[in-house]
Amino acid sequence: MQLFVDTAKLSEIREAMGWGVVDGVTTNPSLLRAAMEEEKSESLEAHVREVCRLAGRGRPVSLEVMGLKAEEMVGEAKILYRKFNPVARNVVIKIPVCTYTGEGRLEEGLRALKELSRLRIPTNATLVMTPEQALLAAKAGARYVSPFAGRIDDLVRSRLGIPFGKHDYFDFGFLREVAGIRLEGAVERRQEGPGGLYQDGELRALADPGVNDGIVSGVELVRSTVKILRHYRFKTKVIASSLRHPRQVREVAEAGADVATVPFSVLKGMLRHPKTEEGVRLFSQDAEKAGYRELFG
Ligand code: E4P
Repeated sequence: MQLFVDTAKLSEIREAMGWGVVDGVTTNPSLLRAAMEEEKSESLEAHVREVCRLAGRGRPVSLEVMGLKAEEMVGEAKILYRKFNPVARNVVIKIPVCTYTGEGRLEEGLRALKELSRLRIPTNATLVMTPEQALLAAKAGARYVSPFAGRIDDLVRSRLGIPFGKHDYFDFGFLREVAGIRLEGAVERRQEGPGGLYQDGELRALADPGVNDGIVSGVELVRSTVKILRHYRFKTKVIASSLRHPRQVREVAEAGADVATVPFSVLKGMLRHPKTEEGVRLFSQDAEKAGYRELFG
């Protein structure tokens, strides 16, 4: 699995790339805005150029368009690609999979993905919240699709009425087990035949806690997306996105995601463990006491 760093902060990209295990960068307008403010960058263009340079040759950098009409998005994509791809040959254009915002048309993103694929400009279909959207983006020729696992977890947890912090890990597997036991109990207490059980709103809610059309967590969104795209042998790669906790990285890796894009804090979290820290401290002390220095003299 490839690992991308999900940030537009130059300091973080520089440091993350220095680890030697990061394969690319994803940005979005919110990340660029935060980076520009924190790093007091005066020129967005110079900042983006530096992001591409720091990522390095051939390590994909996703840059998002702004327009919501296919023609605008294609025009912006061409400009971004022309300006920034020469820096390190690594630009990928992020296109929202659906452009409906309560008004406007649905399919502009798909049309832009299709046209950019025809022009051989690599794309990343973003804001993917369902496997169905991912399937459509793959059919439109997206190089990558980005299912937003964390935002689906936010949605499901809010629907369940569970208070949460953005970076809290939530054990959806455990939730499913508890829900399964409650469902079994509820089914046993009912007298109806299968037709009645099928229509029972309470049972249906127990079977789909968080009521999200059968996608019960962000990791399940990634798992289902990977399964569908593999099944039909699409070339489109799945970037598990909007990850907020190291354990989610493990789970999307188990699910077979091609890429996980992670904030730098999550990358650091993937490496740390209190017992590793304790072990390193102990080994260093014992190496000192054993006179290890002699070995390296
Ligand atoms: C990456 O491509 C996404 O823009 C990013 O992961 C979104 O993360 P968030 O949901 O934590 O903002």
